[in-house]
Amino acid sequence: MKIAITGSNGFLAHHLCVFLSQQGFEVIGCGRGENRVQSPVTFAYYSVELTDVSSIQYFFDKVRPDIIIHIAAMSKPDACMQNPDMCLLHNVTATSLLAEAAKLYNTKFIYSSTDFIFGEGGPHSEADTPAPLNFYGESKWMAEQALLSILPDAVIFRPVFIYGKQWPGMRGSFIHWVASALQANKPIKVVTDQLRTPTFAPDICQGITTIIRTNQSGIFHLAGKDILSPYEMATAVATILQFNIKLIEPVTADSFPEPVKRAKKSGLQIDKAKALLSYEPISFAEGVRMSFI
Ligand SMILES: NC(=O)c1ccc[n+]([C@@H]2O[C@H](COP(=O)([O-])OP(=O)(O)OC[C@H]3O[C@@H](n4cnc5c(N)ncnc54)[C@H](OP(=O)(O)O)[C@@H]3O)[C@@H](O)[C@H]2O)c1
Repeated sequence: MKIAITGSNGFLAHHLCVFLSQQGFEVIGCGRGENRVQSPVTFAYYSVELTDVSSIQYFFDKVRPDIIIHIAAMSKPDACMQNPDMCLLHNVTATSLLAEAAKLYNTKFIYSSTDFIFGEGGPHSEADTPAPLNFYGESKWMAEQALLSILPDAVIFRPVFIYGKQWPGMRGSFIHWVASALQANKPIKVVTDQLRTPTFAPDICQGITTIIRTNQSGIFHLAGKDILSPYEMATAVATILQFNIKLIEPVTADSFPEPVKRAKKSGLQIDKAKALLSYEPISFAEGVRMSFI
């Protein structure tokens, strides 16, 4: 089975390329420009610009994937707020163009959305009504709707605050930011009054593998099992990696003004994934340990 994965120079998509290759699938990574990440596994790679119809058509015609997993996105909420037209182009238009191509080539479509489509009151279930608090969340919700209007049987999965191993050429996640600051003896301020369900990238990959193997459709929340604040996550990183915990200053979100509005209590419920996919994510502590092995 040929599986194309968009955004393969990005954090989650690259993890998925590695994971699915190791599971024996034929993986084709798609990114912009060169294949920049150096991980332990090699897979086929195409440079595809997802806002360009001819680039997408060329890719589908050459590769004819059985499944496309669309992970590429403009994923930084601040950048989306500063450049909403660009955000719509990369998050909504690109998803629609890919979905049209997938429809034409009879390719199954799996899309990576986010907990940011919801507002306050988390952890949210798949049945909750989206109410994005910022433009990034709005664009991902618009992309979900655009996708389902073209491919009603598509799969949408929603992760939260993704973390995991970092390979050379790959951007780090929050835990890497914490670890490198503490290693350099640099004090950091981290918020105590936002709650998330941080998700270990290989857990998402396992969930997607089961979605593929059991041919699911619909929406799945693939999040972690612990509900933690960024401060709790940072102190866990310090404890596990034996750094000086006193370098981490607890602050509230109000004292740390951010241009983009974020939910205080977000995160996602994973009961559906547990029931239908036997999804069993590991604890945050275990995930941090495995990320730094
Ligand atoms: N990170 C999180 O905590 C989190 C949480 C919930 C949901 N999500 C969702 O999960 C997915 C993966 O997130 P991530 O943090 O792993 O993303 P990421 O590291 O920012 O990677 C996104 C990738 O998409 C590529 N891309 C963007 N626009 C493109 C275009 N028009 N054509 C081709 N490639 C394009 C980028 O290419 P360049 O490298 O060239 O810029 C980048 O490699 C996203 O859909 C995001 O919305 C993320």
